[in-house]
Amino acid sequence: MSITYNEKERSFKLRANNTDYMFKVINGEYLGHVYYGRKVPDEDMDWLLRFDESPFTPEKNNRDRAVYLDTTPFEYPCFGIGDYRESALKILDSDGMSTCDLRYVSHRIFDGKPALEGMPATFATEKSPAQTLEVTMKDAHTGLEAVLVYSVFENLDVITRSVRFKNTSDKPIKLTRALSACVEFDTDKFDMITLNGSWARERHIERAPLHHGKQSIDSCRGESSHQNNPFAALCDRNADEDMGEVFGFNFVYSGNFVAQAEVTQHKKTRFVMGINPLDFEWLLDAGETFTAPEVVMVHSDEGIGKMSRIFHDLYRENLIRGEYKDKRRPILINNWEATYFDFNTDKLIDIAKEASKLGIEMLVMDDGWFGHRDYDNSSLGDWFVYEKKLQGGLKHLVDEVNKLGMKFGIWFEPEMVSPDSDLYRAHPDWAIQIKGRDMTLCREQYVLDYSRKEVRDYVYSMIKNILDNANIEYIKWDMNRQLTEVGSAALPPERQRELWHRYVLGVYDLMGRLTTDYPHILLENCSGGGARFDPGMLYFSPQIWCSDDTDAIERLKIQHGTSICYPCSAMGAHISDCPNHLLNRNTPFKTRGHVAMVGTFGYELDVTRIPQEDRDMIPAQIEEFKKYNPLVRTGEHFRIGNMFEDNTWDAWMFVANDKSEALFEFVQVMARPNYRSRRIKLKGLDPDAYYYEESEPDKLMSGAALMNAGINCAKIWGVDGIKGDYSSKILHFVRK
Ligand code: DGJ
Repeated sequence: MSITYNEKERSFKLRANNTDYMFKVINGEYLGHVYYGRKVPDEDMDWLLRFDESPFTPEKNNRDRAVYLDTTPFEYPCFGIGDYRESALKILDSDGMSTCDLRYVSHRIFDGKPALEGMPATFATEKSPAQTLEVTMKDAHTGLEAVLVYSVFENLDVITRSVRFKNTSDKPIKLTRALSACVEFDTDKFDMITLNGSWARERHIERAPLHHGKQSIDSCRGESSHQNNPFAALCDRNADEDMGEVFGFNFVYSGNFVAQAEVTQHKKTRFVMGINPLDFEWLLDAGETFTAPEVVMVHSDEGIGKMSRIFHDLYRENLIRGEYKDKRRPILINNWEATYFDFNTDKLIDIAKEASKLGIEMLVMDDGWFGHRDYDNSSLGDWFVYEKKLQGGLKHLVDEVNKLGMKFGIWFEPEMVSPDSDLYRAHPDWAIQIKGRDMTLCREQYVLDYSRKEVRDYVYSMIKNILDNANIEYIKWDMNRQLTEVGSAALPPERQRELWHRYVLGVYDLMGRLTTDYPHILLENCSGGGARFDPGMLYFSPQIWCSDDTDAIERLKIQHGTSICYPCSAMGAHISDCPNHLLNRNTPFKTRGHVAMVGTFGYELDVTRIPQEDRDMIPAQIEEFKKYNPLVRTGEHFRIGNMFEDNTWDAWMFVANDKSEALFEFVQVMARPNYRSRRIKLKGLDPDAYYYEESEPDKLMSGAALMNAGINCAKIWGVDGIKGDYSSKILHFVRK
């Protein structure tokens, strides 16, 4: 049993592999948090509870009840009753009051993990099972009921949280803040790690010590965003990749969010995560329900690296679904950076012909094939073929590509509408807007009101028409702008603030329909690069385009940051042309290959026009990718270099789960003179086993020496090694 209830203490203990999480029903029927961290024996539970410690004693100290409420560590704190720290719940009742006071009513423990209605969430599998605890709480004054849902993945150090609300009264209640999780820690000695950036430099790592007050990241853009990823970790001040205690939190959601740590007056930390309360409201009429999305909590007692590997294992087994879950993805060539909008059937077939000869397996036709789209200023919403470009139609093109032995993939941006489109002219009210106000254009487009079923149905019928008329085996689902003037022509005034969340639910509904109706189609999510690289999207698509920045050197940071909580096997990564279109930087074709090999791998260039020497490298590059992809998809990932600390080099490893082989990749960003006799320590090997590097099968090295002393760097940049800036090398270690 990973979840136990102690009747006498009225306490709950959730054991996830090496992690314990404890809370209990305390005086006054509140739910008090006890402990989260490394495993502790059951018999220590009673003194750990410490609720007899002043001022945790409301019945003995009723005159200072507010002190009690402002000090006690709570599982799900409510606004208005004297807890002045960040709350998880705030309401507006039918009298216009914002106070809520949830108290314990009952609980149940059961095997498995229920799905969240209409929303993505992790799920239990036979290989990685889960157990669930639901604690029902109620506010007697308003009749608002909240069910706190905890699931424990017993083989992983993972606990998930979400909350289901129900209005059990006959009067309306509005939720104005309904976060998914609150976790209390007895210390302020934490660093907070977040993944931040902008377009073309997503998920760069930031790390800063907590201090008094609130430190938060959020999105209020309607998507999880380029700027802040819905991830945060709290770690020991001295934690590094390999040691120290780390608590990682990731929100399984693709819209507005907040992640916040607050250091309180007593130098403790309260962490909360959930839908961003900014501009959020949800009306619950009598009997209605609302579910707050899932937060995944990972605990590592061996540094940031182990936290990442736990996230990777969980997402690969318990979040990603579909036919490609455990399969190598087809090696694709995408025409975006090759042609942008300037292509036609002949050009695409020329690219496909050359690509197929080299071993590339799929052609992806990106933006510009529909309506009358010659630039980014028209036709979104008109999902019919632009005959001027695709002479002979889509089926003809797809058939020709299939005849070459290649699959065919296509780009859509289903959530958008261009002002210059038949769709907008017919249904201007289908765009998100506030009647009478100017609408803000962004990339020359508006956002469709996905809270409306008729809008989703229409878009889906157009997409279906395309999919049913040609052999399409891959879709890139793009989303290229954020939301503004958030209003819906279909919602009453008292429900307008629900649109942010209803929009996200609409997106999930359509992605769900698409992946159910077309299970064989490989879906890749994308949002102006990597603005929706989040677990919500991973539930629908086993891969997500990491960034519009395809420069191999910039990708080192982006991919390193992304790997903090997302598996490399889900990172869309392509070899693009040089000089790089964003940075004008030239990097060797080989290095571009080694960096793209970390992810799903593909090409994004005009293969008919690149230098012959680069083209000649492609077949061997593809073989190399195929050889190592099983390790990347299923192995354990270890970060060795860190470009955020030293941007002259980077290195990482993928190690087979049985430790029988390991791939080591090294990129020399800046060559350095006279840099001798140095070693790099490998990670994750079996210390007691002997390994050889594939190019020297007779030279055995112990795992212990490779990890504790390190490989001699002469192996990398010695006489036969790599030379110059931006060069790279891979080494393959095999157990004897
Ligand atoms: C943004 C994506 O990230 C690019 O890869 C490309 O698909 C463009 N949109 C097309 O408009």
